Amino acid sequence: MKKRILSGMRPTGRLHLGNYVGALENWITLQDQYYSFHFVADWHMLTTDLNHNDQIKNNSIEIVIDWLTAGLDPEKSPIFIQSHIKEHAELHLIFSMLVTVPRLQRNPTVKEQVQNLGLGNNMSYGHLGYPILQAADILLYRADKVPVGEDQVPHVEITREIARKFNALYGDVFPEPEPLLTKFPRLPGLDNKKMSKSLNNTIFLSDTPDIIQKKIMTAYTDPNKIKLTDPGNPEGCVVYAYHKTFFPENIDKINKDCKNGNLGCVEHKKDVAEKIAKKLQPIREKRKYFETHKEEVENIIAEGDKKAKKEAEITMNMVHEAMKIG
Ligand code: TRP
Repeated sequence: MKKRILSGMRPTGRLHLGNYVGALENWITLQDQYYSFHFVADWHMLTTDLNHNDQIKNNSIEIVIDWLTAGLDPEKSPIFIQSHIKEHAELHLIFSMLVTVPRLQRNPTVKEQVQNLGLGNNMSYGHLGYPILQAADILLYRADKVPVGEDQVPHVEITREIARKFNALYGDVFPEPEPLLTKFPRLPGLDNKKMSKSLNNTIFLSDTPDIIQKKIMTAYTDPNKIKLTDPGNPEGCVVYAYHKTFFPENIDKINKDCKNGNLGCVEHKKDVAEKIAKKLQPIREKRKYFETHKEEVENIIAEGDKKAKKEAEITMNMVHEAMKIG
């Protein structure tokens, strides 16, 4: 029997290249080797976007379209929506008794969020506890592996602790899942900060060749390379980073040409923009199709929900039996 994967994304809107390299590409590669469950973490949006609830449903469809167009195969990997499977909430409640408050407060990813969002004492109980919801997301499908970026590793660690504690208290029900780290944890944005929608430095999977070209033209390059013939330093150049990540085949030559003053930044930008646009072309075409066939996307989700629900029920039966309650 194939080992199982569970992973999810918050529906924050259309996906960009950073999401693609940081997670989605990995999901697509792993779907042949594992039985993979992929879900839209819509309840998780309430931690930070309590009042943007109107957008959650539409963004959930959008993110599924991105997954499908990038190559996630719903025949191999069920795609479903968290809030459609109420068992996530029940398991979250049970797990919430197994974790102390100081343990949650020590979570470095949550701590960073508190800082970045300036939450201080205004953090909700649900926000502090979202790693427990995440543990329920993972263990509800008895997943063995969780493909995630570096920042999610603390949540997988809490998940393992919860599994251990549950098993010790009530009997063996859950595996102790392990993170599967992605190869490229971080893709720079156009300005050389982390690529992120809130920083407005992204290239979306759905961007047209024109937009890609315009965006890449503004990308950060070596500030000391002004003329074509100036020797440049490719390390730290965003255009070089994209080249290396997506088109590693002739990267040694590019590196040399940049350093020797044989390749100008403008020419390099045009080349990389063209290559990225070409790479994204099939994704864009498929998006056009799904945008006019949204009922197909909804059917795919309904099928995924069914498969997820079946697994969730099996797990909850095991939980009820082990706990002698419910
Ligand atoms: N917290 C994750 C993020 O912000 C999303 C997520 C929710 C998730 N539940 C999950 C990821 C379970 C992996 C497994 O990206």
